[in-house]
Amino acid sequence: MKITVEIQRFNPESDSKSYTRKYEVDAEPTDRLLTVLLDIKGTQDPTLGIRKSCAHGVCGSDAMVINGKERLACKTLIKDVAQGEGAVICVEPLRNLPIQRDLMVDQDKFFKNYMHVKPYFMSSEEPKEKEFRQTPDERQKFEEGTKCILCVSCYSACPVIQEVNPNFLGPAAVVQAARFNDDSRDEGFEERLLQLDYPDGIWPCESRFECTRVCPRGIKITKTINFTKRKIQQHKS
Ligand code: SF4
Ligand code: FES
Repeated sequence: MKITVEIQRFNPESDSKSYTRKYEVDAEPTDRLLTVLLDIKGTQDPTLGIRKSCAHGVCGSDAMVINGKERLACKTLIKDVAQGEGAVICVEPLRNLPIQRDLMVDQDKFFKNYMHVKPYFMSSEEPKEKEFRQTPDERQKFEEGTKCILCVSCYSACPVIQEVNPNFLGPAAVVQAARFNDDSRDEGFEERLLQLDYPDGIWPCESRFECTRVCPRGIKITKTINFTKRKIQQHKS
């Protein structure tokens, strides 16, 4: 079917502000949007800036705003976002981060916040056997956090970062802190608590659920943030 893809463009070397460019394409309803975008880049406009790697929903690098909602282009079928012949799909870069070029944003701040919460295993002991062992229940406790692919969608959709506090640590960083805080083998809670418990840390979250709505991995982000807030409060009381 014939559709129009409207892509927000911006080249910092030549543009003073973003603008929209339209591309007419012939696509199957079962085509993935990433395939269509790469086809546009390959046949209509080689200057289009787009980031992607695995093309299978694993690496998180092709998150973008599609018809107003954060999604992975490789996991979005044309029929999910275009209703029939002549439909228009609007594609924009992620929000809350500076645009590098077209659909690519500068992720430095996101990853700085991620590293801030010390998202790694901390233990003062060596494993008694060859590895630290856990029961299935202990493993299940941090299952949610292991699903995160650091796609930045939650950070982009967060209305608190956009409207209230641009320095808020952001949802993904808290998910990563929780992943290790909830791990029975880890001893880093005290250190991570300091990284979360400050005015721009975990507390600006207003439980607006936008992060949870857009997460391509279905992580219950808002629940995880609220659980972590309670854990900090209990620890301090
Ligand atoms: S929590 Fe979900 S939306 Fe946020 S970075 Fe991880 S996978 Fe992406
Ligand atoms: S390209 Fe890796 S998640 Fe889409």
